[in-house]
Amino acid sequence: LKDFTVVNEPILSYKKGSKERKELEAALNEAKSNIVDVPIMIAGEEIRTNEARFQVMPHDHQHQIARFYYADEKLLQKAIGKCTEAQQKWDKTPLKERVEIWDRAADLMAGKYRQRLNAATMLGQSKTTIQAEIDSAAELIDFVRFNVFFLKENAKFQPISEDIKVTKNSVRFRGIDGFVAAVSPFNFTAIGGNLSYTPALMGNSVLWKPSDTAILSNWAIYEIMREAGVPEGVVNFVPADGPVFGDTITKSPYLAGINFTGSVPTFNRLWKQVGENINNYKNYPKLIGECGGKNYHFVHPSADIESVVTGTIRSSFEYCGQKCSACSRAYIPESLWPKIKEGLLCERSKLKVGDVSEFSTFMGAVIDEKAFKRISSYIEHAKASPNLEIIGGGGYDCSKGYFIEPTIVQTKDPLDKIMVEEIFGPLLTIYVYADKDLDATMKLVGSSTQFALTGAVFSTNESFLKRALEEFKMTAGNFYINDKSTGSVVGQQPFGGSRMSGTNDKAGGPQYVTRWSTVQSIKETF
Ligand code: ALA
Repeated sequence: LKDFTVVNEPILSYKKGSKERKELEAALNEAKSNIVDVPIMIAGEEIRTNEARFQVMPHDHQHQIARFYYADEKLLQKAIGKCTEAQQKWDKTPLKERVEIWDRAADLMAGKYRQRLNAATMLGQSKTTIQAEIDSAAELIDFVRFNVFFLKENAKFQPISEDIKVTKNSVRFRGIDGFVAAVSPFNFTAIGGNLSYTPALMGNSVLWKPSDTAILSNWAIYEIMREAGVPEGVVNFVPADGPVFGDTITKSPYLAGINFTGSVPTFNRLWKQVGENINNYKNYPKLIGECGGKNYHFVHPSADIESVVTGTIRSSFEYCGQKCSACSRAYIPESLWPKIKEGLLCERSKLKVGDVSEFSTFMGAVIDEKAFKRISSYIEHAKASPNLEIIGGGGYDCSKGYFIEPTIVQTKDPLDKIMVEEIFGPLLTIYVYADKDLDATMKLVGSSTQFALTGAVFSTNESFLKRALEEFKMTAGNFYINDKSTGSVVGQQPFGGSRMSGTNDKAGGPQYVTRWSTVQSIKETF
């Protein structure tokens, strides 16, 4: 395999009059004026059932953009059969050929289909232009290129042979016989790509259940893989009811792994089902999950106020706080609070909420009615509780789209459920601590929630930062010093959390690809 270095895909500017802006506008118009019919795809066969479902635009929920269908148990069984069959041939395909396919896919994503992917992500998942560009363009492409790079790097590993005249040792990466189930979320188009295409790159075949609320963008990825040359049956596109999908895959003896991003209860359910079926499997299924978060910003009295304000507004409210990494709780010292409060409220009041196709919009709508109800119930809880005060925002309205204002709550109780539970919306809660209680407040960061996904600390005091690095070690898989808790970049900050946030297999890092292979060690004796 040829050596090469890999660089992150540049983020385009979308300035008025730019080529990319014109192309994006055309793609948005096209996507808005059509309802794309998205079939179930099993080994190249297009399947439509009698009952159609629709994806709508969250910021205009009467507007449908895609029609799709659920694979029932029978179709899922069929997909498992075809997928497992395809794996046998696929795993024999030389690595070089597999890599070439994914190189082509990355080029198609970066060029010909970039604006189709962005428009589908903007309209279907209510992302602004910049939020779509960093997701369905840059991160999606980076996952492909870096996974190929890491695969090549790993393939160079040569075990030691004590006497090369007598023995030669080597290792080879094989796909796992069976099928991998990829269950992807709505909040990052790039995750849909990564969960499905990385196991496939490594020689597995995949049953991909995309999120109902990300059908259009995930379908675009699927079509790109086909155009790039991924053989039929290697990746199968099977939207389905969650429990039906879970029950069917975990009952199959050929389940080789689950690559999951979603909620803790769903991942736990799948894990239990795997346990119940453990005697039936051909291989121990690999379970990789990225689940919830209750990400924090911890501010020390020495912090730079402007960095805290800008970072917190961006982390909590970009993409409506629906990034897995979004800041949802902040701990701020009393001595800095008046200035930070003023800054947060001033910046918050400037955020424009509305239609994401307008380039000046900062925040679109939350993903669907279920999310709208969940998030607004926390706002109602804040209104009703004597310990909580809404200091900014608090409004919500779903007459046209699922809109929720960027909302800031101040709490007197650092253990109120609003500081503990995952909300996954544009709601930031702040606990103001007395400066003398620094030590006790630091302890709360790790002890008050079951999650450990992302966290950030703001301070200009070197010795405090050293201490924070130690004390916050187990509180976040991705830890930021003087920067917001969101925005990890593939290859630069591999992403994932521990505790109930997931199995911490670090998407975008060198270990991730190896999780999707079963390695054979070979000793040749001469
Ligand atoms: N890369 C995404 C972020 O860190 C998950 O926000």
